Amino acid sequence: MKKNIILGITGSIAAYKACDLITYLVKKNYSVTCITTKEAEAFITRLTLETLSGNKVYSDMFEMPEKREITHVTLSEKADLIAVCPASANMIGKLAAGISDDLLTCTIISSKCPVLIAPAMNDNMYKHGVTQRNIRELRKIGYEFIGPISGRLACGYIGTGHIAELTHITQRIEKILK
Ligand SMILES: Cc1cc2nc3c(=O)[nH]c(=O)nc-3n(C[C@H](O)[C@H](O)[C@H](O)COP(=O)(O)O)c2cc1C
Repeated sequence: MKKNIILGITGSIAAYKACDLITYLVKKNYSVTCITTKEAEAFITRLTLETLSGNKVYSDMFEMPEKREITHVTLSEKADLIAVCPASANMIGKLAAGISDDLLTCTIISSKCPVLIAPAMNDNMYKHGVTQRNIRELRKIGYEFIGPISGRLACGYIGTGHIAELTHITQRIEKILK
């Protein structure tokens, strides 16, 4: 049976990388369902994500579901893995604080499956004490992290904040799902 991956996409310039990730995972016979934050939609379109994944893209917690169900609970119950890729500093902060004010945070906090987070941000944002504290807190409760790595950032500087290599992310996903 196909394993279900929820791919959370946040408002980062690296959001376009989710496309290659989806393509790879679909080829490997995983079912990929994307949840975007409102800010992610400024970087990537629902049309692209739905076309590549072959599944409905979820974003709005209050959109009327097709069946009588609560979307975030249904999504989290079906998930074998939730990967947040790319994960913004804001999303990492919200998860560490238990804030659940959108569909992605609600789905994650109501899930029991493994959670993999691939941060992508400006290097100062990444190195900031608050971000580092948030990552430590999430690691303590079992969330896995991959990257970021050093590379050219959207701001033009070279620094640590670049999303991990896709091959490494896919390898980690496959390892977790084995
Ligand atoms: C052009 C642009 C690029 C951005 N890239 C990032 C990024 O890579 N990482 C990050 O943490 N925030 C980035 N931001 C800021 C986030 O979009 C902002 O914090 C947003 O509130 C995140 O919302 P979300 O976590 O709900 O998706 C960027 C903003 C802009 C305008």
